[in-house]
Amino acid sequence: MKAIVFLGGGRITSALIAGLRLVKFDQPIVVHDRHPRKLQRLKRQYGVSVESDLHRAVNLAGILVIAVRPDSVRGLLKEIAPRVRKPLTAVSLAAGIPLNKLRAASGPPVHWARAMPSPVSRSGRGLTALTFDRKVPAAGRAQVRKLFALVGPVVEIPEQQFDAFTVTFSSSHGYHALATLIAAAEAIGLDGKMARMAAAHALADGIGAWREGDVPLHELLEEAATPGGTAAAVMASLDDAGYRRMVAKGLRAGTRQARRNAAR
Ligand SMILES: NC(=O)c1ccc[n+]([C@@H]2O[C@H](COP(=O)([O-])OP(=O)(O)OC[C@H]3O[C@@H](n4cnc5c(N)ncnc54)[C@H](OP(=O)(O)O)[C@@H]3O)[C@@H](O)[C@H]2O)c1
Repeated sequence: MKAIVFLGGGRITSALIAGLRLVKFDQPIVVHDRHPRKLQRLKRQYGVSVESDLHRAVNLAGILVIAVRPDSVRGLLKEIAPRVRKPLTAVSLAAGIPLNKLRAASGPPVHWARAMPSPVSRSGRGLTALTFDRKVPAAGRAQVRKLFALVGPVVEIPEQQFDAFTVTFSSSHGYHALATLIAAAEAIGLDGKMARMAAAHALADGIGAWREGDVPLHELLEEAATPGGTAAAVMASLDDAGYRRMVAKGLRAGTRQARRNAAR
């Protein structure tokens, strides 16, 4: 049986493998990384096979997952390209790098998909966006969809929307908002344990109520913020201070970074 081969054994590879192990994924998983210690850790933690030779790793692949940082992608593909002669389905996780660059760097036998998975895949609930190059055959598409569906919901989106999706869906928004709210609560006198509990409920329960119910968001906002009350005062003050503008600015910074990745 051909393996799922990860090139790069860092953060997202570890999260995806943890999610695959949760559902008892039984296809062979092989990881290649230039750091032997990372490989040994993944082998110990998840029982994956490790392969320190890049070309041997690629030869084992049924699906090849490119999981190195964007600035390493071009170098990696340059090494692989001359040695791939048979058709191969590859999935790049690299933020910003478009299909046309991947295609040009790897040559015709490699059929490309892009995936943007979440580290939340670790718990089996990570959303993944996918987009496929025209050349990926139906069977290859199905394999890729099936793989990521094992670690959470999968959406397919046009490539033009990939960067916007990437900067919007990141679980870092949740962690960032949580850390910010906890720190602000502590600053006004709530003890650490209570601050963490209150902030986690504020974010998770609000989003849970919106997702699980059928009440539109603007109505939930109105319901939670009595006019003249404390929540309304907090929201108005945040908006006055430029909350929406700052979030928009953050997303624009992310998309600029994605464009810089694409230009590498
Ligand atoms: N982290 C996330 O939540 C997340 C989510 C979605 C997508 N992604 C994408 O996934 C990719 C990986 O992100 P990450 O956070 O997992 O990065 P990471 O933790 O830095 O892991 C990448 C690993 O690949 C190794 N590597 C780089 N070039 C290599 C080469 N030529 N041969 C062998 N090993 C090589 C790196 O070594 P060095 O440290 O020496 O370079 C590192 O150990 C990125 O392109 C990112 O955009 C990440």
